Amino acid sequence: MSDSRHARITNAATILAALVLISTSVNAAEHAATQASTTPASNSAFHPPSEQEIPNNAFGKMVKRGEDLFVNTQQLRGKYVGNGLNCANCHIDRGRLANSAPMWAAWVHYPAYRGKNHMVNTMAERIQGCFRYSENGAPPPANGDVIKALETYFYWLAKGAPVGAKMKGRGYPKLSKAAEKPDFARGKQVFKAHCAICHGDNGHGTKQHGKYVFPPLWGKDSYNWGAGMHRVNTAAAFIHANMPLGKPNSLSEQQAWDVAAYVNSHERPQDPRFKGNVAQTKAKYHKHDCRYGNRVDGVTLGRKSYPNPLAHR
Ligand code: HEC
Ligand code: HEC
Repeated sequence: MSDSRHARITNAATILAALVLISTSVNAAEHAATQASTTPASNSAFHPPSEQEIPNNAFGKMVKRGEDLFVNTQQLRGKYVGNGLNCANCHIDRGRLANSAPMWAAWVHYPAYRGKNHMVNTMAERIQGCFRYSENGAPPPANGDVIKALETYFYWLAKGAPVGAKMKGRGYPKLSKAAEKPDFARGKQVFKAHCAICHGDNGHGTKQHGKYVFPPLWGKDSYNWGAGMHRVNTAAAFIHANMPLGKPNSLSEQQAWDVAAYVNSHERPQDPRFKGNVAQTKAKYHKHDCRYGNRVDGVTLGRKSYPNPLAHR
């Protein structure tokens, strides 16, 4: 067998194995959710209504449209989406999973003040930010169909949740400060051992039939330098609670810190607030735990960032 044919078959087998892992993990999450519903409400996370409860009427249609946009955000590629990601790639199980920044917990917390843009944000404005940064795209109009559908989906997921209450399972659980400074070389080892099988040796994700089955962690199709996930602490928290997919909380906290530093030390699309100078952009917008503008492995991150294909909008 030729090497390339062998490589293709091995690759296909890898993808298959990983897909089996995913379906197992989703089942495990659902199983855990069923079990959790029998425990007292005080110490268990909120449970959004089940899919079957979506009403069969105009409102239910809008809920479904929002869910579809959330899971397959790529349908807006070129219009409002400029990379290869879907909302559900970072908000696992269609935005339902606790500790994966679930949408039912988000819904009851807006409008809210955000330090990122120094103003009170409505949910529409919060979602617009996700399109601009996490999706490296352009914000859909606040009063248009896309935001309406997404908001209707979130509202429905949050049925029965107390408005303004602090909800268990919101966001990604914060890790304690790293015992040792997050390290690129150690992170690379974690990546090779625990992530590359799905996300690819080069972190650019894995495609089948032109569609990502495993999303890109860096490169032109990933989140940009302004997205929440580019912060090392945020990525470490997400990774520890959610990755490798199907094995949440299996990495040590140190491994999560190291691999987050490694992932976020690679080029990705430019920060949309960039005005031509990396050092200025860093000084103005990156006073947090990130690698933008740092010299890593001989290159200054941000210097060779990919453009936003929808920047003109
Ligand atoms: C079994 C396959 C698999 C493994 C192993 C795995 N991931 Fe993922 N990862 C996924 C899938 C699939 C998604 C998208 C989840 C979804 O859409 O439900 C994802 C999403 C992500 C995301 C958010 C989306 C993006 O592209 O930025 C990050 C970050 C991430 N993974 C990091 C990691 C890291 C770091 C590791 C290793 C510690 C890892 N993953 C291991 C399958 C995997
Ligand atoms: C690359 C990963 C990624 C993608 C893709 C992504 N998000 Fe997020 N999202 C995040 C991160 C990180 C946060 C901040 C979570 C935190 O720090 O607690 C967040 C937060 C949010 C919040 C606020 C949550 C809260 O509790 O306040 C909403 C709402 C949201 N995202 C919606 C979306 C929508 C809608 C999309 C798709 C258009 C999307 N996200 C795509 C990573 C992502």
